[in-house]
Amino acid sequence: RQLFTVVLYFLVILVNDPHQKHDHNNHQSTQNNPDPCDGLEMDAVALNEEGVPYFFKGDYVFKGFGGQAKMINKSFPEVDNHHQMDHIDAAFRMHHDDDPTHNNIFFILDDMVYSYYQYKLEEGYPKNISEVFPGIPDHLDAAVECPKPECDEHSVIFFKGHDSYHFNVKTKAVEKKKFESMPNCTSAFRFMEHYYCFHGHMFSKFDPKTGEVHGKQPKDVRDYFMRCSSNNHTERERCSRVHLDAVTSDQAGHMYAFRGHYFLQKDKDGVLKADTIEHAFKELHSDVEAVFSHDDHLYMIKDDNVFAYTVGENHTLLDGYPKPLKEELGIEGHIDAAFVCEDHQHVHIIKGQHIYNVDMKASPRAATGKGKLLLLSKVNAAMCGPEGLKVIVGNNYYRYNSTMLFVAGRALPEQHRVSQELFGCDH
Ligand SMILES: *[C@@H]1O[C@H](CO)[C@@H](O)[C@H](O)[C@H]1NC(C)=O
Ligand SMILES: *[C@@H]1O[C@H](CO)[C@@H](O)[C@H](O)[C@H]1NC(C)=O
Ligand SMILES: *[C@@H]1O[C@H](CO)[C@@H](O)[C@H](O)[C@H]1NC(C)=O
Ligand SMILES: *[C@@H]1O[C@H](CO)[C@@H](O)[C@H](O)[C@H]1NC(C)=O
Ligand SMILES: *[C@@H]1O[C@H](CO)[C@@H](O)[C@H](O)[C@H]1NC(C)=O
Ligand SMILES: *[C@@H]1O[C@H](CO)[C@@H](O)[C@H](O)[C@H]1NC(C)=O
Repeated sequence: RQLFTVVLYFLVILVNDPHQKHDHNNHQSTQNNPDPCDGLEMDAVALNEEGVPYFFKGDYVFKGFGGQAKMINKSFPEVDNHHQMDHIDAAFRMHHDDDPTHNNIFFILDDMVYSYYQYKLEEGYPKNISEVFPGIPDHLDAAVECPKPECDEHSVIFFKGHDSYHFNVKTKAVEKKKFESMPNCTSAFRFMEHYYCFHGHMFSKFDPKTGEVHGKQPKDVRDYFMRCSSNNHTERERCSRVHLDAVTSDQAGHMYAFRGHYFLQKDKDGVLKADTIEHAFKELHSDVEAVFSHDDHLYMIKDDNVFAYTVGENHTLLDGYPKPLKEELGIEGHIDAAFVCEDHQHVHIIKGQHIYNVDMKASPRAATGKGKLLLLSKVNAAMCGPEGLKVIVGNNYYRYNSTMLFVAGRALPEQHRVSQELFGCDH
């Protein structure tokens, strides 16, 4: 069935000549759930108001790195009603300098601009591109916002063919540049202060001021921005910018990090190896919520259950597991992160902005409130080790000398890169 879907999909691509304008009734042509892991060329990529990346393709949008295909008309009906809507040319999120909470998503289709705020089309839109972004040509390929200081002035960079147009948001001045070393972008994306030009299913990281392309380029979008199962797992997982779901290190100094269907294991010498979760932890399929090490076992939390595994060469589920989370740790799901520090007795659990404490020697176990996180609204994973506590948010982490300092902290410490500093990715 899968093969059939893939074959059908390629047939659709062949039939669906991008240069041929489509009638609005022609939606069926792209309707069989495109899979980004087939190597799609995205039409546009943008963050939404909450910083979730949206990938647009034909009538579909993928929300997040592992997102299912959803119809664009569900979230942005007016864009879909655009006459002859075939694909979105470009999309970007705009942060207003003076009002940082006011995040609009802009879509550009042919010569029209649609501006949304919280899924509502702003009054007066769609507008002609010459009205909103005077000096910018129509039928663009890509666009990306470039705030200060990444660009000298708060700008939007528009791409068409080999040309780029730098639009100054404040003065509306346009500077045209040729980014010689850069490929023609089919979409462009700013993510964690880095700039990516997507071309086909490949991407190149670029400097928004000079157009200079960095590092070993280009790379496969699927290896970095999609949760796919192809290609070299270790290299992909090492450098992925997708956040971790859970992380821990055991007493022998091995680190285990879980992400989607995969986990990475780093031994004491720093040798990294990726495998599927299903292969090593049979009973868990994917999407671990939290993991901690205690008494030489790995405790993994998923939904309302706790799974306890042996460490060592093979991982065996302990007798009696999985157990209900409520019974094992005295707390309801869904947990964001869990960790045990050097006292080896207390599990610290992060759920939303709350942090709880569970005494593993108590019976029955109970989670007692310990405090509220004031500086972070969402933690993805956390672990304790000889270097203190590491708290992972997105593809960065923060280091603290103790849990106390983490909870009581009044300012965020220096950010570290998960891919580079935990896994040794070279770019
Ligand atoms: C979106 O488009 C599809 C296909 O044309 C249609 O079946 C569906 O009802 C539309 N949904 C909305 C919310 O308009
Ligand atoms: C947009 O503006 C251009 C130039 O002013 C004009 O030629 C074009 O007809 C306008 N398009 C629409 C849809 O108003
Ligand atoms: C890039 O765009 C230019 C037009 O500006 C075009 O002539 C050239 O063929 C394009 N290159 C590729 C590889 O598509
Ligand atoms: C995958 O990456 C790892 C780590 O860099 C490397 O040791 C291994 O040879 C690679 N495997 C393949 C099939 O390329
Ligand atoms: C781990 O599992 C493999 C494959 O089932 C087996 O060959 C190996 O002996 C096991 N190792 C240990 C230490 O049990
Ligand atoms: C954490 O401890 C190390 C060494 O014990 C010290 O050098 C460092 O300044 C401490 N960091 C903070 C933020 O307190």
